[in-house]
Amino acid sequence: MARCFVTRKLPGTALDRLAAEHEVDLWPEREPPTREQLLTGVAEAEGLLCMLADSVDRTLIEAAPRLRAISTYAVGTDNIDLAAASERGIPVGHTPDVLTDTSADLALALMLAVMRRIPESDAVVRAGQWGTWEPDWLLGRDLHRATVGIVGLGRIGQAVKRRVEGFGARVIHHGRSGGVALEQLLEQSTVVTLHCPLTDATRGLIDEAALRRMRPDAYLVNTARGPVVDTGALGRALTEGWIAGAALDVTDPEPLPADHPLLRAPNLVVAPHLGSASHETRAEMADLAVDNLLAGLRGDPLPRRANG
Ligand code: DGY
Repeated sequence: MARCFVTRKLPGTALDRLAAEHEVDLWPEREPPTREQLLTGVAEAEGLLCMLADSVDRTLIEAAPRLRAISTYAVGTDNIDLAAASERGIPVGHTPDVLTDTSADLALALMLAVMRRIPESDAVVRAGQWGTWEPDWLLGRDLHRATVGIVGLGRIGQAVKRRVEGFGARVIHHGRSGGVALEQLLEQSTVVTLHCPLTDATRGLIDEAALRRMRPDAYLVNTARGPVVDTGALGRALTEGWIAGAALDVTDPEPLPADHPLLRAPNLVVAPHLGSASHETRAEMADLAVDNLLAGLRGDPLPRRANG
């Protein structure tokens, strides 16, 4: 029986399976553990089940001398020093595939919300400003006429491609697997949607120069990771009309404080990192995260391993 630190309660019954085999030290609060609490939590742990907001860096891994397996409740692993874990021979599990379609659905929901001005329309109705039907009131843009530029044609990018093609949109893409140059994608797309992981190469990829290259009638959708976009530049792009609008499920910083200047920018839709947030998918992620940790603690190959 190994001691496992689990940094948040998970939906469904997956943690019961972990507790049936191991001693589970479950962080009891809704608020995440602080850095100090995380360091204390891992000090004696052999297994760690963490969230994407927990920074599992080299210092934390070094502060956990007994650690034998790490499992993150996410597909993205940018919060984990994979190299430091590999050097110690610690396998790191993550949760790809089970969240692909749910994440792609949210990208489409945000895309349509900003293009058809849904949050703005909802606010108008609630404010009692719905007068007579008008031919030119709250006009948006059609997804079926759009050229959608997908940055990162991995699992989620491909699922978004299938969806927008179903709407009739033209698709171009840019990424490690080929496609067009980023500059070309930015210049041609009326929707730029980001599905790349956060790496040294993609941090700040959509900076001022990139936003200025986009068309003034184009929308930016970010459901990848907040730091892929330069937040200050995006605020200026929206305020000064370099682009038509943006829809974000991820921001930098995260969470985005209610008084953050970005929230004063026009034509912006923001969700609080909900890409995988459906009942079914979050329960499947919990099952996979627990399966990864159980396998790692047994010394078996992880069902989904992120490091070599
Ligand atoms: C992930 O898994 O990386 C998403 O951002 C949250 O589900």
